[in-house]
Amino acid sequence: MSHRGITSTNFSIADLALAQTGRHQISLAQNEMPGLMAIRAEYAQSQPLAGARISVSLSITVQTAVLVETLVALGARVRLASCNIFSSQDEAAAALVVGSGTSESPAGISVFGWKGESSKEFWWCLDQILDWSNYPDADGNTHPGPTSIIDDGGDLIYLVHQGIEFEKSGVLHRQNSWIESEHEIVRELLAASQSKNPTRFATLVSQVIGASEETTTGIQRLEELSRKGELKFPVINVNDAVTKSKFDNKYGIRHSLVDGLNRATDVLIGGKVAFVAGYGDVGKGCAEALAGQGARVIIGEIDPICALQAAMDGYQVAQLEEVIEQLDFVITATGNIDIVRPEHFLKLKNLAILANVGHFDNEIDMHGLEALEGAQKVQIKPLVDQWTLPNGRSILVLSEGRVMNLGNATGHPSFVMSASFTNQAMAQIELAQNATNLEPRVHLIGKLADEKVARLHLPALGVSLTKLSERQAGYISVPVEGPYKPDQYRY
Ligand SMILES: NC(=O)c1ccc[n+]([C@@H]2O[C@H](COP(=O)([O-])OP(=O)(O)OC[C@H]3O[C@@H](n4cnc5c(N)ncnc54)[C@H](O)[C@@H]3O)[C@@H](O)[C@H]2O)c1
Repeated sequence: MSHRGITSTNFSIADLALAQTGRHQISLAQNEMPGLMAIRAEYAQSQPLAGARISVSLSITVQTAVLVETLVALGARVRLASCNIFSSQDEAAAALVVGSGTSESPAGISVFGWKGESSKEFWWCLDQILDWSNYPDADGNTHPGPTSIIDDGGDLIYLVHQGIEFEKSGVLHRQNSWIESEHEIVRELLAASQSKNPTRFATLVSQVIGASEETTTGIQRLEELSRKGELKFPVINVNDAVTKSKFDNKYGIRHSLVDGLNRATDVLIGGKVAFVAGYGDVGKGCAEALAGQGARVIIGEIDPICALQAAMDGYQVAQLEEVIEQLDFVITATGNIDIVRPEHFLKLKNLAILANVGHFDNEIDMHGLEALEGAQKVQIKPLVDQWTLPNGRSILVLSEGRVMNLGNATGHPSFVMSASFTNQAMAQIELAQNATNLEPRVHLIGKLADEKVARLHLPALGVSLTKLSERQAGYISVPVEGPYKPDQYRY
């Protein structure tokens, strides 16, 4: 397979000429990513990732580039693909491939991804980053696959697990996040792999010491594998580090939701009515951002605790059906399926805006929309579609129902991603140093490590932390140096 961009054995991206632009942005981002830069400085000498081959599936953004170059600075080699078909920044991909000639950024980081992949290209890219056979190390040795994985959403880890199952049974189990065509794409990919090498995935997995997973939806899928006893290696849960989900998911989306809406539509938000489905970490950030712009925000929730939180935060809480005719914006942030369905599309106001920020593209039923008889799509600009419905009204759908803060904008800003990705870098160091002691299940990041990530970000914001005295520490029964909270503390 090839695409309209530039392809070699070890990379496939949109345009190498974007490298300089990408490099400028990476340099600026480094300034806003103090946690990752501190990890680089701390571990530059000891090289804890020496010998590691890491297959990374994350949105190929400028912030991911800083993470990837941090892993390289710690001794690792990396192959990177995108976790979403619309979330790549082509300039970041180009800068990584070209490199800057420094030790953390030698030319030749393997990147497979570009903005606007088809589903088939997406899975091809994931397959490419698992194949290390044409990517010899400095001693000229080649290896079939990675020693560890970084994933966002669980697709890469699932592919590896299903590859083994397929080699045994010839059957691919259907994922409930996949539509039929995607299932067939993965089946064809695994069949082609099997015909070339019937034990490729079994061999590959035997060399994987572990993985770290970035997002809520990925963790839910991997917990399910773990519960069934099917997980083949330990997975470190980066998402549920406090310094990830309570920061990236909430404060990150508080920035990038409005950024995406503005870049896509430039419609005034103030005074309008916005519905946010889901009042978890991401939904809370969405609601705050929209309210901050002066919108009247209505929350939809299934969980009574989150519904009560939303009410006490001052939002109306309602079922979508009860308020649909008033809505100017509908934002989905549940990680669940079938939130906005055909019966809803037909009740929306003319030119209401529909946007999803959950991981998969099944929160807004896009197939249901396509199947509405007489519905017609006109592209206003890339990733902004006006759908005219059989009732004569139109709705605007952003990023074809996929994560719009990455599709219509560039995702979360560097500072908040620094906290998330410092957790990723520390998780990979933990795997390199301690994976043999970890059972094949999902593991939380320890409180001390979590507090360290926060600590690394305080000086940049001018925070002056109060020092706990010995007497105070004894009184509340915590060590002077932390951790300061019990595991069950919720922040
Ligand atoms: N776009 C981004 O940049 C970004 C960043 C982080 C996470 N995510 C993704 O966003 C999604 C939400 O993540 P989160 O961390 O907020 O998860 P969460 O579990 O904290 O919140 C999801 C909320 O949705 C609610 N919910 C579930 N089904 C619902 C339904 N039918 N109607 C209304 N509410 C429903 C749940 O009760 C929960 O409170 C996940 O898919 C996650 O992977 C996206």
